[in-house]
Amino acid sequence: MEQQLKTLKEAALKAINAAQSEESLGEAETKYLGRKGELSGLMRGLGALAPEDRKKMGELVNSIKSELEAAFVSQNTKLKAGASNLIAEAEWMDVTAPGVAHELGHSHIITKATREIEAIFSRIGFVREKGFEADWDHYAFEALNMPHDHPARNETETFFVGPREGEIATDKKYGKMVLTPHTSNSQVRLLERGEFPIRAVCIGKAFRRESNISHIPMFHQFEGFCVDKNMNLANLKGVIDYFIKSFFGTDRKTRLRPHHFRFTEPSFEVDISCVICGGTGLKNGVKCGVCKRGWLELGGAGMTHPNVLKAGGVDPEKYSAFAFGFGVERCYMMKEGLSVPDLRMLYKNDFRFLKQL
Ligand code: PHE
Repeated sequence: MEQQLKTLKEAALKAINAAQSEESLGEAETKYLGRKGELSGLMRGLGALAPEDRKKMGELVNSIKSELEAAFVSQNTKLKAGASNLIAEAEWMDVTAPGVAHELGHSHIITKATREIEAIFSRIGFVREKGFEADWDHYAFEALNMPHDHPARNETETFFVGPREGEIATDKKYGKMVLTPHTSNSQVRLLERGEFPIRAVCIGKAFRRESNISHIPMFHQFEGFCVDKNMNLANLKGVIDYFIKSFFGTDRKTRLRPHHFRFTEPSFEVDISCVICGGTGLKNGVKCGVCKRGWLELGGAGMTHPNVLKAGGVDPEKYSAFAFGFGVERCYMMKEGLSVPDLRMLYKNDFRFLKQL
């Protein structure tokens, strides 16, 4: 029996010390020290021994038991320490190391332009108003003196909106819902408020189905709208000149070129002298590649048509108005020192491009 006990002790110590996980250590414990384990098995044989042998063997069993228990405890501690060392190693950090600076971002160029435009107009008393980006046909076309069959309302250029794919929201009185193709839909909505005079600038998105170097399906416009008594062309020209000088600098020139819009009469397109060729149309003796004629178009303008005032419930005998609508991206493209060779790049979120602005 003594021999059996020694063999058991050795095997048990080996198993305990070799255990590399708490799980295998637990298994060794059950196998040798457990209630139904090998040591208990041998202890049960003690009864069959002669009394003096029984005493001697009893002592031996007990000492082996305590030795094995001690070995178990120490291996258990070792394993636990090993596990927390692993965690410590994985999560180690040098708290004294200098921090990593986050790269600073900046607003998108169109956000900056919007704020700049708003600030310029607020200096002459124009209040920024929120426009509708999805609006009824009525405000986008009909009330702006554009009847249904008018060619300016080319349906293939308009985006319609609906509650589900393939459906267009329609109202009996106001017609179909569109993504507004210009910010001019704000005009009649402002008139309907019935508060005069109006000096408003509406900066918002406009949508048209076209995409190339100088056109994107979603772009931004700002609409100036001024309604008061005795408004005339000199007022319109003065406000536009003021904006151009504030935004582009005092040495740029503007011109009003007669044009046609249904909602203004007379109507103009507003040109600015080209920054690349200094308004001459020639760069190093050849035709300027950007403007080709010394002038670049910024947008439309004019004295508000009486039908538009009437559509907004305003008596054209009492009030007169002027309006202009310019492209925000376009204005930015023509600022000195910027390089925006393709308008579509503004919305591609390529940092290499955005960072220069
Ligand atoms: N809404 C016109 C356009 O998008 C511009 C415009 C605005 C013209 C106001 C006249 C008056 O082309």
